[in-house]
Amino acid sequence: MSFQTIRGTFDVLPDAHDTGGMTVPGSAAWRHVEATVRDVLGRFAFEEIRTPVLEPVDLVARGVGATTDIVSKEMFVVERTKETYVLRPEVTAPVMRAYLEHHLEQRGGAQRLFYVGPCFRAERPQKGRFRQFHQFGTELIGSDDPRADAETVAALRAVYDAFGVRDTRLRLNTLGDAADRPRYRDALRDYFEPYAADLSETSRARLETNPLRILDTKNPAEQALLADAPRLPDFVGGAAAEHYAEVKALLDGLGVPYVEDPRLVRGLDYYTRTVFELESDALGAQSALGAGGRYDGLAEAVGSKQPVPAVGFAAGIERLFLALDAQGYAFPQTAPPDVFVVALGGAAERATFGIAQTLRTAGLRVDFALGGRSMKAQMRAADRSGAARTVIVGDDELAAGEAQVRDLETGAQRAVPIAALAVTLAGGAG
Ligand code: HAM
Repeated sequence: MSFQTIRGTFDVLPDAHDTGGMTVPGSAAWRHVEATVRDVLGRFAFEEIRTPVLEPVDLVARGVGATTDIVSKEMFVVERTKETYVLRPEVTAPVMRAYLEHHLEQRGGAQRLFYVGPCFRAERPQKGRFRQFHQFGTELIGSDDPRADAETVAALRAVYDAFGVRDTRLRLNTLGDAADRPRYRDALRDYFEPYAADLSETSRARLETNPLRILDTKNPAEQALLADAPRLPDFVGGAAAEHYAEVKALLDGLGVPYVEDPRLVRGLDYYTRTVFELESDALGAQSALGAGGRYDGLAEAVGSKQPVPAVGFAAGIERLFLALDAQGYAFPQTAPPDVFVVALGGAAERATFGIAQTLRTAGLRVDFALGGRSMKAQMRAADRSGAARTVIVGDDELAAGEAQVRDLETGAQRAVPIAALAVTLAGGAG
């Protein structure tokens, strides 16, 4: 019997490997991406939050919305005695739960939170779409200031700029306030109802449950119908329109490029006012690098007595990798060991085992070959490891209390007292 990763999931190995239409970069590349994300978001004063992968199913159903694709067909549900949990499909609702549960407003001011971690959606796997994928994102909770929206967009862009990602497009829209949406929903429904028989099955269902999602259609006939459909901006009330104008002015002031798209609606129900999506031409059908928006109604939807205005984004790390791959981005490799220890003979093997430990305690990265291999095999392993230097100890050297230190690049070799190895090598004088 043999086992494999579940479809739509993948292992991250020390080296890059190909799977599911993607090259999964090695673990050092993941660390590099995560470190860069932390660095950039840290400059915006976002602080890290880590929430569980398992959450109550009702949090997600109420937060993300019962009629969304995510909740109606993509949740990984875990039944456990009387409880039902869900593997989190996204992190915004969990972060809001944590904010409310721990009264983070008591820390004072708006809370700037960021996260990096796995999410789970039972979608049909394809290029750029996985069942376990990884998001980084921010949630700025406790402010309705348009600067919070503009800063969120700027932070999203800054991450891609830090990697030099080219050919991206940021689409921006406003959904208006909660009161604006039903009016627009009704207008859309009235417009599409006479064409209901011509609509695809998906759009016909959406006409009933969530007509705004028809704006997402990829069907050319439906797109043609949309040309004359009521437009969202015409239904956005005064306060939300002013907010949107200010967000755009702030982005213009920062020189952050965007294009307005009155058809951008997003697939999660919690959004109000600003929404945005960052796309890349390098990604194919799954073109969204990251997306987000304002969600002033989410807190109350998940049980808060007060409204808590908030705005955030999330972005897929796999899609960032795809975009970087398309540009031939060179990822850093795991650093090789500083020292490879080679032992000749049984007594030397035992002694070098202790020497390796001493060098590690002194802060060096040390490797050696297991299994009593020949000198030649050990030297080959040393070469393969990429170590800068080998420490070679035979029984003769051991008797003399010395080791041979060889520079693998130049081939230069000299004797160093075993007792002085740590100081010599860790001091860089070897
Ligand atoms: P979302 O648009 O559902 O938004 O996901 C954000 C990003 O996660 C997408 O743009 C994409 O890069 C990545 N992503 C989503 N699903 C998959 C998948 N199956 N495979 C690979 N990558 C995927 C949210 O999740 C919101 N929580 C964003 C947000 C934060 N809004 C406010 N704050």
